[in-house]
Amino acid sequence: MSVLDVVVWPAKVLETKAKDVTKFDAELKKFVADMYETMDAAAGIGLAANQVGDLRRVITIHIPFNDNRYEDQEEKKESWHDKKFTLINPVITKKQGKFKFQEGCLSFPEIYEFVERAAEVWITYKDENGKDHELHANGLMAVCIQHEIDHIDGVVFVDRMSRLKSNMVRKKLARQGSVEKVEAVKVKA
Ligand code: CO
Repeated sequence: MSVLDVVVWPAKVLETKAKDVTKFDAELKKFVADMYETMDAAAGIGLAANQVGDLRRVITIHIPFNDNRYEDQEEKKESWHDKKFTLINPVITKKQGKFKFQEGCLSFPEIYEFVERAAEVWITYKDENGKDHELHANGLMAVCIQHEIDHIDGVVFVDRMSRLKSNMVRKKLARQGSVEKVEAVKVKA
């Protein structure tokens, strides 16, 4: 396995729609394993293939249970905590409610902003063996799924912010010019 390079915005691959996976072979399994290793090395909870320069609809998610994640409230242990989810060709079939969460992204170092998304999502997806699955997610898992599916659709999280916030972030990144260190306590996906 190997740690892959994470692509940082404004790379074009981050704003390009990825294509469905059609080949479920050994190479795909190796790629998925590399994505998990890359995500863990970067301390991210989710990663989309675009973020490592690959335009296949592949997402990895692993959200460790962390009681200290939120400053103001205790995190409740959910069924999706501490599990690895490989979402291939995922499709959102239903959304419900609204939820605002301060998101980070491995492709936007040092940027953390509130984004409003659906509070719950229902999805269908395939695993790396091509087997079909269904999943209902809430809380941080629902946020992460929507953030990552945006990635494979070529949508980055600044596109989901208000125009004012989005412009501020774009200016800040233009000023920085390059990648700086990232706070470990925040959530990146
Ligand atoms: Co991201």
